[in-house]
Amino acid sequence: MTDIRTILHRTACDLSACGSPSPRLDADVLLMHFLKTDRLQLCMHPERNLSEEEAAGFARWVDRRRRGEPVAYIVGEKEFWSLRFEVNREVLIPRPETECLIEEVLGFYSPVGGDLRIIDIGTGSGAIGVVLARELPTARVAATDVSPGALTVAGRNAFVHGVAERMDFIQGDLFATVPGKFDLIVSNPPYIPADAYHLLPRGVREFEPQAALIAGPDGAAFHREIIREGADRLKGGGRIFLEIGAGHKELVETLFREEGAYGNIGFRKDYGGMDRVASARRKA
Ligand SMILES: C[S@@+](CC[C@H](N)C(=O)[O-])C[C@H]1O[C@@H](n2cnc3c(N)ncnc32)[C@H](O)[C@@H]1O
Repeated sequence: MTDIRTILHRTACDLSACGSPSPRLDADVLLMHFLKTDRLQLCMHPERNLSEEEAAGFARWVDRRRRGEPVAYIVGEKEFWSLRFEVNREVLIPRPETECLIEEVLGFYSPVGGDLRIIDIGTGSGAIGVVLARELPTARVAATDVSPGALTVAGRNAFVHGVAERMDFIQGDLFATVPGKFDLIVSNPPYIPADAYHLLPRGVREFEPQAALIAGPDGAAFHREIIREGADRLKGGGRIFLEIGAGHKELVETLFREEGAYGNIGFRKDYGGMDRVASARRKA
């Protein structure tokens, strides 16, 4: 028999030795999900013993974490915008930085505004599209991805969060399979330069989908395409919001300017001080 206090201590030491940057948090989150309880219950009942079967099952989860698998894939979910999103290895784990893109969009659009047609390109788990559909109740969101597995996960997230009837999930390359014009284009496209992929943390490289990360030699291949075709696909006065990677601000600004169809080009930093969101308005 092993009690919660002992197992948490032992797991945190074990994960620390394996190089986890947040061993105690990992241990708490894994055990909380494994026992289908919350952190308060773990804290209030440190003396509770795990059965042999529970201890063996939990050891298998810890072993996955020791081998570098992200906690979100092990527990099958990640919190984003205070909502739980199902994740699996078909989708990128939504990152907190992407919440800056949502904040930026919501600074321009009000929940009581008119009907909005939105496209979320490369929806992955559906994080951006689902949150926007919830926050903007008159919006209809087309969520696209090349990955059928990602679209399945995104569809389930939309259903769980009550917005499935205002979202369409469409497999295809960028805009290719979605006709018409939009009021709002949003995307967190892949943006890692091919030769920087090996610099990503091991957990990202070994477990997250490559197709969600790599974007040509300079990391801006998708931004280039989205900005180019976005000029035709945005209604006059419509807006585009793109998450950008490290060092991409000048390049993305140039892409918007050279296209000629955009004004009000702006950038927003994330909470780490990095330029993270690019936005522009389609000239009328
Ligand atoms: C960085 S992930 C973003 C996922 C999600 N939007 C988020 O913010 O967490 C990029 C997504 O783009 C998708 N993708 C890659 N190439 C694509 C393409 N040519 N057309 C549409 N989606 C693509 C990937 O499958 C992946 O789901």
